[in-house]
Amino acid sequence: MEASPCSVISSLAICVMVLVAAAASSASAQVGVNQSSIALISELNITRDDFPSDFYIGVGTAATQTEGAAEEEGGGPSVWDHRAKMLPGSIPNSDKFPFAIDGYKRYKEDIKIIKDLGVNGYRFSISWSRILPQGSLRGGINQRGVDHYNSLINELKRNGIEPFVTIYHFDMPQALQVKYGGYLNSKFVQDFQDYSDLCFKLFGDRVKHWFTINEPSSLAVYGYEIGIAPPGRCSLPEGQCGLGAPPPGTCIVPAGPCFGGNSSTEPYIAAHNLILAHAAVVKLYREKYQEEQKGEVGIVLAATYFAPFSKSQEDKAAAKRLFDFTLGWFMEPLVFGDYPRSMRDLVKERLPTFSAEEKSLLSGSLGNFVGINYYSSAGAKHRPPPPTEKLRHSFDSWAEATAIPDVSGVSNSNWPQGLQKLMNYVKNKYQRPQVYISENGYTNTRNDSRSLHERLYDPHRASYIARHLYRLNKAMKNGANVKGYFYWALFDDVEWGLGFSLQYGLYYIDFGNNYKRYPKLSARWFRDFNNKNY
Ligand code: BGC
Repeated sequence: MEASPCSVISSLAICVMVLVAAAASSASAQVGVNQSSIALISELNITRDDFPSDFYIGVGTAATQTEGAAEEEGGGPSVWDHRAKMLPGSIPNSDKFPFAIDGYKRYKEDIKIIKDLGVNGYRFSISWSRILPQGSLRGGINQRGVDHYNSLINELKRNGIEPFVTIYHFDMPQALQVKYGGYLNSKFVQDFQDYSDLCFKLFGDRVKHWFTINEPSSLAVYGYEIGIAPPGRCSLPEGQCGLGAPPPGTCIVPAGPCFGGNSSTEPYIAAHNLILAHAAVVKLYREKYQEEQKGEVGIVLAATYFAPFSKSQEDKAAAKRLFDFTLGWFMEPLVFGDYPRSMRDLVKERLPTFSAEEKSLLSGSLGNFVGINYYSSAGAKHRPPPPTEKLRHSFDSWAEATAIPDVSGVSNSNWPQGLQKLMNYVKNKYQRPQVYISENGYTNTRNDSRSLHERLYDPHRASYIARHLYRLNKAMKNGANVKGYFYWALFDDVEWGLGFSLQYGLYYIDFGNNYKRYPKLSARWFRDFNNKNY
């Protein structure tokens, strides 16, 4: 694909593919990639046997993106269900949002699909408000929701697929948002701890791999700085650029609409509470469950690999700061007990501080592993905050993430190497933690004028996976402690604020034909890879 400035910022597709037009115009550039993709895969000569037999290769989804039926059988709405209802114009095809891809009702059929892919792990999330409709224990437990996840987990185990469960994947119960403002309020920590405790108690006899929170950086920035995700809090004027600008013409994502808030401070407060919530849950699991259940717990962080855009000292320092303001924002407190030095120096009093007691709780509270969502690499350029802009996370790092110049003309051809380098960076910087690649995926824009055959023909996706596995394997040979890789996503599903307009899936869904699932070429390739068929 051609360079999309959006694709260099983060993994979350809200950002990644807002430039739908740019992606569409790159279709012709993809032709060459398609033709050579399959040949390229065999040249790499990477096989399942290159990975240890206890290495997990899996696929992932999240409740809001697949389940639908949020308020059926006693469930309550999440902030995303609320947004789709109250701001239908903000999500394309929002009328389809409440049904997603009907996964709640089709989980048995979907597990057959997962089994057929030959994977040994499945990452999915529990919908908090399906089992606690009011968000807190006091509001009561929805037994039918609990029954559903019990059946799902049992069905996975019966099929020899290991469940990797995300406790919280962007879907805050709307009730807690209304009650005290969600994770902007430190009361969130207790409710998240209670909810996690319930999950461990109910499912921990069978679930041995827990991800506490998915991408706290996305929650903080999209929800509280630029307002494109719930609760849509920000203080940017209507029409202002959210991510990317200036210089002129580089707006990646327009902000808002903003429903109150303070873009300069609230993202940092939100992230602060999410960090403390994760640490509290790790402590809880260690003290109350780990010995008996013998499982593991960690967090999922979005990570981009940043390479200095030029050889200048300024760009080298900019790359370091971009790491600090993204991955380091969470890794440093959870490994070493405090925010990165550069964040403390640059954000100053807008960055909340940890008490001495909190620091000692935090230090070493990453858990047993870190999940890394890796989609892309970027170049880092020194950039002082523009004087016309309000100080906020996107400008606080004095650095700009930009497309990496690439001689091959295919902007994402650098990304697999970026994964290898990122693994090396994480190993050296954070005491060689255990890592799962909890997401890695290739997206294309939905195009309804394509035939079914064209929709299923995605050699570029197969090639993307193979190239990343190849580089991951190299990183492991070089000492990175990686234990699994999960392709994102199993299906073309709901891409949050972008509705169904982006497709990451190995499977295409035909909405006009009772949500029929069709394997794409990439699914067939992945199945062959996992079943060691070549
Ligand atoms: C999120 C996924 C999302 C993916 C692609 C990640 O940030 O965890 O839910 O589908 O990016 O945008």
